[in-house]
Amino acid sequence: MRFPLLALLATGAAALAAPRSECLTPKVFIVSMFSPEDVWTAPLKLTHNVSLPGLSPLFPHVKCDKARDVCHVITGEGEINAAATISAVVLSDKFDLRKTYFLFAGIAGVNPHVATTGSVGLARYAVQVALAYELDARQMPSNWMTGYWIQGTKAPGTLDGANIYGTEVFELNTNLRDRVRALIPADIKLNDTAAAAAYRASYSYAPANAPPAVFYGDVATADVYFAGSLLAEAFGNITSLWTNNTGTYALSAQEDNASFEAMVRAHQAKRVDFSRVVLLRTASDFDRAPEGKNTYDEFTADQGGFDPAVQNIFVAGNYIVQGILGEWGAFKGGVKPQEGWLHDADVFHTLATKRAGLQRRGVERRRVGRGVPLVE
Ligand SMILES: *[C@@H]1O[C@H](CO)[C@@H](O)[C@H](O)[C@H]1NC(C)=O
Ligand SMILES: *[C@@H]1O[C@H](CO)[C@@H](O)[C@H](O)[C@H]1NC(C)=O
Ligand SMILES: *[C@@H]1O[C@H](CO)[C@@H](O)[C@H](O)[C@H]1NC(C)=O
Ligand SMILES: *[C@@H]1O[C@H](CO)[C@@H](O)[C@H](O)[C@H]1NC(C)=O
Ligand SMILES: *[C@@H]1O[C@H](CO)[C@@H](O)[C@H](O)[C@H]1NC(C)=O
Repeated sequence: MRFPLLALLATGAAALAAPRSECLTPKVFIVSMFSPEDVWTAPLKLTHNVSLPGLSPLFPHVKCDKARDVCHVITGEGEINAAATISAVVLSDKFDLRKTYFLFAGIAGVNPHVATTGSVGLARYAVQVALAYELDARQMPSNWMTGYWIQGTKAPGTLDGANIYGTEVFELNTNLRDRVRALIPADIKLNDTAAAAAYRASYSYAPANAPPAVFYGDVATADVYFAGSLLAEAFGNITSLWTNNTGTYALSAQEDNASFEAMVRAHQAKRVDFSRVVLLRTASDFDRAPEGKNTYDEFTADQGGFDPAVQNIFVAGNYIVQGILGEWGAFKGGVKPQEGWLHDADVFHTLATKRAGLQRRGVERRRVGRGVPLVE
């Protein structure tokens, strides 16, 4: 077949020469998982629609503000929607996201021993807790406390022999987490309602029965919307395992590991900087009943936390968005992540491998680092 080589070259050259200005370079990209979490479009006037292939049919546009400084996408719920949507965004040629901060901000279930409804959690880890074997508890060995155990292992409570998929746990930049927490005023007035306060009072212990607050806590990801003290404890144990006891299961949601897998892959492809990711989850409902109460009844009860949780995404999260925009001079260059990430972003040590490779080849940091703060 004859193919005009010159035409091919011309196409390639045109692609390479495409002015960067045609590409959107948002400073902050906000991610919601379903419509109620979109507390951003109206107040931030996100009126500029950007269509991309690969978004959810329910949420077919990325929306940006007039200056194209802030963009927002809704992934659709669950791990599959999150991974597919985030992949579409980070691989799109319509964006240059190498210096963009990502704020993943949604609601979540909450461990009452760590926080209460309406509270705002900032995470270090996202753990895919249900990536596991499972036996129905009625058929498990009689001395087991849970029917979940890590694939490849022999029993709950160990990682010995674990089969690794690579998505089990993601670790974020805790220095960035500290920086953005400092953007939120210490005396912030979080939204609360009488209904949420009344339900909270049915717990006999704090922080469950205390007013909502901003806190640090890690997120368990599972498509299964679980509840009850036994499952919550089992998944809390799995969180401890995957984080070598440095993570605390605080919040449960259905997307974060999936989103972060797409983000880590895009980081490897030099399309995003994984050290610029913030995970904020506000607590909409308790993951277990107050002591002595029936698990199913409390799971299905209106706990009153949904409305304040949704509102507090914006109440707290907008300080982060405006802070990054307002201090862009300081944020533009990135925030160096902690020394010795437990997993260097993921179980495959993706970022560490990159660092080792770069150091081996003696590649100059600035040229290739692309904002990935490499070890000095
Ligand atoms: C942008 O897209 C949304 C749906 O995603 C639609 O409701 C809205 O009308 C669109 N706005 C414009 C200006 O086209
Ligand atoms: C989810 O991500 C967290 C870290 O963010 C990681 O520790 C965990 O193993 C992941 N879980 C799964 C099942 O991928
Ligand atoms: C969680 O781990 C603790 C400590 O190893 C153990 O005592 C408890 O039974 C475990 N709980 C579940 C539900 O697996
Ligand atoms: C896990 O923690 C223990 C002690 O807390 C430490 O000695 C060990 O090196 C840690 N393992 C990893 C992989 O970081
Ligand atoms: C906070 O909650 C109150 C009702 O308690 C409501 O009137 C107000 O609009 C809420 N604020 C925000 C920012 O949503």
